[in-house]
Amino acid sequence: NAGRTKVHRHTAHLAMAPGSSEHLVETTLQAARDELVRGLGGLLGRPVPVRDAPGGRIPAGAVVAGTPASSPVIRRSVPAQDLAPLGDDGYLLRSVRGATVIAGNTDLAVLYGTFAFLRRLQTRQAITPLDVSSAPRIRRRYLNYWETERLYAGNNATGTGGLNGENGAIFDFTATGASAALNLPVILDRYLVAARAMASVGINGITINNVNANSFYLTAAAIKQEAALADALRPYGIRLAVSVNYAAPTDARFAPDTLTREQLDPYSAQFRDWWARRARQLQAAIPDFIGFTVKANSEGQPGPQDLGYDHRDGANALAAAVAPLGMRIFWRTFVYNAEVDRDRLKRPYLEFGPLDGKFAENVFIQTKNGPLDYQAREPVHPLFARMEHTDQAIELQITQEYTGQNTMLCYLGPLWEEVLKADTYATDEHGRLLPRRRVGDIVEGTTRDRPDSAIIGVANLGNATNLTGHHFAQANFFAFGRLAWDWTAESGRIAEDWVRMTWGHHPDVVRTIVAMMAGSREAVVNYQTPLGVAHQFRSSDHYGPAPGERLSRDDWSPVYYNQADTAGLGYDRSPTGSGFTAQYFPVLAARYGDIDRVPEELLMWFHHVPWDRRLRSGRIFWDELVSRYDLGVGYVTWMRHAWDSLATRLDARRFAEVKAKLAAHETDAAGWRDTCVGYWKQFSGREVPADGPLSV
Ligand code: GCU
Repeated sequence: NAGRTKVHRHTAHLAMAPGSSEHLVETTLQAARDELVRGLGGLLGRPVPVRDAPGGRIPAGAVVAGTPASSPVIRRSVPAQDLAPLGDDGYLLRSVRGATVIAGNTDLAVLYGTFAFLRRLQTRQAITPLDVSSAPRIRRRYLNYWETERLYAGNNATGTGGLNGENGAIFDFTATGASAALNLPVILDRYLVAARAMASVGINGITINNVNANSFYLTAAAIKQEAALADALRPYGIRLAVSVNYAAPTDARFAPDTLTREQLDPYSAQFRDWWARRARQLQAAIPDFIGFTVKANSEGQPGPQDLGYDHRDGANALAAAVAPLGMRIFWRTFVYNAEVDRDRLKRPYLEFGPLDGKFAENVFIQTKNGPLDYQAREPVHPLFARMEHTDQAIELQITQEYTGQNTMLCYLGPLWEEVLKADTYATDEHGRLLPRRRVGDIVEGTTRDRPDSAIIGVANLGNATNLTGHHFAQANFFAFGRLAWDWTAESGRIAEDWVRMTWGHHPDVVRTIVAMMAGSREAVVNYQTPLGVAHQFRSSDHYGPAPGERLSRDDWSPVYYNQADTAGLGYDRSPTGSGFTAQYFPVLAARYGDIDRVPEELLMWFHHVPWDRRLRSGRIFWDELVSRYDLGVGYVTWMRHAWDSLATRLDARRFAEVKAKLAAHETDAAGWRDTCVGYWKQFSGREVPADGPLSV
């Protein structure tokens, strides 16, 4: 029934990027039109006729896309009151007299609706009769792209090797130290492929550089090139931001417009004016520029504390500088100054908690899902419930820094679903439970009637053909976008959509791959950090295990997190330990603080557990611990066999690529188990139980 396609467009002008075969589109409706033509043609296996600006009778089976402003057909066939609740980004798909309309209030909503319609076709959902509408729960659905030192999805940014070879940085620019270069304005095909991938799941902004920010991105030369990127991404509804260094004004690259260290005082006019000048330059080149992401006084980055001020002073200074331009500041809470408390987990709240409600209107504080650093499982960050008078963006990591990088198959949907649906049990001043205090409720801002809201994914885009390296890393990109749009969605359903769109519809394929994905994250938890023992990673690459590693900083050392001794294992954060549990509201504080009540999967986040303590399985802690490692490795072995069973149902190249990854995955999972169990054994003084094998 989707045999004919009609969409409106404002312009017929197509430009080719130098050295590029992808079309640069100029308008969002043109992008929607291209997607329909390409998507329907591909799905139906034949070209679809296109009519621009159709008038008169619409033939049955046609697809009409547009806004009431751009299309008389939409104006006639979709009552205004049906579009009103959809806001700027929401779309409506509806069967109207034998045709299908894709409508929204804005061109971007039409593009989102187009992708949603194609997804329905591709996942084989009914398209007649159709009457669905969908609007995002969170307004800003951004990526933070880190062209980092380790580029966790694969290669490192300079392309000089790294862990897994094939996936270097997506943007062809490097900014290391003072030497920095952008190869823009050449728009490579893959930027547009990425833009389409982002738009297809509703991502509408991207911070293009590492949080450990190089000030190059603020120079006039860089801004010119960033503007070219912004122009290319704009039709897809993707706006740009950059990460900045608080001390950028002292950087010699801005000479003669530089400040002294003393002038970094957040209340000085020079400091604010300097940032206002940069912001004006950016806005002149990129009219819809979002603003700045800031990592300050964190891991050696400069910040307002260097001059005796706090995070609010710093954030509000930058916010004041950019507010007249309508820009935002995303100020990260990933701080762990060792002078604040011995327990690293307590530090962000101790620094930020007292500042709740004191941030400027155009500031988001940006907080990772958990209080440590993207482990495969963490308790929720206590800040979400405690900073309710502040706009809070949640920062999730799509790229798999601690969850197997580009080697391990780890579907992160269940992790994010767990976090977003986690109840904080926040109470009012009388101790009464407040309604709707799941993390997702707080982030979407409805609990306090805030129109603005943000969710951030640290991106895994690379230069591989599939943008992510490991084929299954794409599922994480996809799931992030879908949950950013609607955090109440089920990660299992999202996985099924992805499998159908990526691997096919044969029942064996769908059932097997969805099942593999469903347990893959729990498997990583089990063979890396079971029962809540955190951060046992080798410091060099954050990939393999190093439970005995002792580094220059306590809080970078696996031994600090595991606290292994002959009595037991785990970090005591209960009221008799570090007292971290008190940062949660009473229900969670009581639950986590009591070794008899804490969920076993979080056990060692909160308690130093005696080796012979009896757990719910009936086994003593030591035996249970070892069995969890085995369980995790066993799951990977099962995934390898399950994948093999699909050999005849999948295309040979991708089948072989994933097969090779699974083999490496299994070896490395077993390595985690053997290294960790071997190390713990020295403290427990116990034997490995006879009922579990200890190597693959
Ligand atoms: C992790 C990561 C760093 C990153 C930091 C952050 O620690 O290893 O590369 O800079 O997170 O979130 O700021």
